[in-house]
Formats: sequence, structure tokens, C-alpha cells
Amino acid sequence: MVTAESLWAEEEAARQERENAQRLRQRDSHRHHLDNLRARLAAEGMVWLRDEMLSADAPEARRALRETTFRGMEHDRPDVQPDRDRLRDVLDIVRGPGGGLALAEAEDHGIPAGYTDDVRRPRRFHALDHGHVEALCQAVLGLVPPGARARARKIGVNLFRTREVTVVTPHRDAVLYGVIYVLARRGYGATTILLNDDHEPVFWRQLLPGDILVFEDRRWLHYTTPLAAVDGRPLRDVLVATVEDRA
Ligand SMILES: [Fe+2]
Repeated sequence: MVTAESLWAEEEAARQERENAQRLRQRDSHRHHLDNLRARLAAEGMVWLRDEMLSADAPEARRALRETTFRGMEHDRPDVQPDRDRLRDVLDIVRGPGGGLALAEAEDHGIPAGYTDDVRRPRRFHALDHGHVEALCQAVLGLVPPGARARARKIGVNLFRTREVTVVTPHRDAVLYGVIYVLARRGYGATTILLNDDHEPVFWRQLLPGDILVFEDRRWLHYTTPLAAVDGRPLRDVLVATVEDRA
């Protein structure tokens, strides 16, 4: 006999089936999307994506990261970059028995000598206190080609607040992959440019909040054009991460 309860149970089962099918489709399209990004990064040595592709609550997480950490920033060393505040952390990449990669806070968060004569240790923040930063680092590790992933030992995580002066000299950072993730910006300019060895531009884009650029450091030179005021003082908050093979 058909009762109201049995009809309701049938409807409920059909609804759940529809929801499951939709969830599977979303998961497949998300996976397909990440596969595409991975293939593009391997082939072209660069990939541009939006943080919403990594998590639906990315805009909120971006805001929360700025609110909780940027207040504690310190000026970068004047001989390095006079117009920039900075926080930094370094994460060790820890390999699990099943081949999975975990992240742990490194003992030393210093920047090795190279650009300057001595090791620099900007004020430290704790990247793993922020689920969004950890998820971003894991996502980047998931995007880089397997060879680089196998060699990667550390991820440097820098938070920068720049006003007008950007790093305008094309350079490399002696790392495997670089990541520029824009959290907020006010003003005009600040176009991020990648060049080939003949100094021809291969990528140029005014990165907006939520934009993430991942690029192979050995393959391209990178720099950013200065930031210009439109309404009040310009400002650009970014997270710059470096996937590194040095110990
Ligand atoms: Fe750089």
C-alpha cells in the first residue's frame, strides 16, 4: 500500500541520489580542473589561478589572514627594500610513509645569504596557525611536477605589504617554484611580469586580490612594476611563497 511515509521515503531517497550525483560531478570537475592546471604548469612553466578554485571560502580566509597577521609586521631591512613591511616563516616538507607530504614549522626561518652578505631573519609569523596558508602550500605542492615535488625540502612563506616601491629588477630567486598570491590592493600599476632569457615578456598581468601565479623560477625572470596612487596611498598585500630544494 502506498502511504504518505513511503512516498516521502522515496522522494527522500531520490533527493539524496541527486545530491550525491551532483557532489560527484563537482568533485570530478574540480579534479579535472586541477589536472589541467598541473599539466599547464609542467608544460609552460607557469600557471595563473584564482584562490576560489582551491577553496570556496577563500575571500573570507584572505581577509582573516590580513586582519590577524598584517598588524604585527615589521619594516623590511632598508638595504633590501625600504618601502615594504614583512613577516616570514619557513616550513619543512615532511614525507610520510605512504608518500604523502606534511608541513612542519622549520627550526630556522632565515633567508640564506646571497642577495645580502648575511642571513636575514625578518619577524616571524606562524604559517601553520592559518589553515588557509597551509592549504595553499599543499595545493602548490600538488600542482608542481613530480620531479620537483620529490626534490622539494622547504617552503618559504612571506607576507609583504608594499606601498609604492616594488621589486622592479628582473631576477630569479634560486628556488624551484615561486608563488605570488595577491591578498589585497589599492592603486594602479603593480603588473607582474615574467621574462624569458632574451628578456621578452611571456606573462604580464595586474594581479588582483585572489589571483595566484605559480612559476618555475629557473625558467623565467620575474619582477613587478611600481604601484601608483589612484585614491589615497597605494597598497599591495601579497603572500610570496617559494618551493625550495636547499636544506
Ligand atoms: Fe623574487
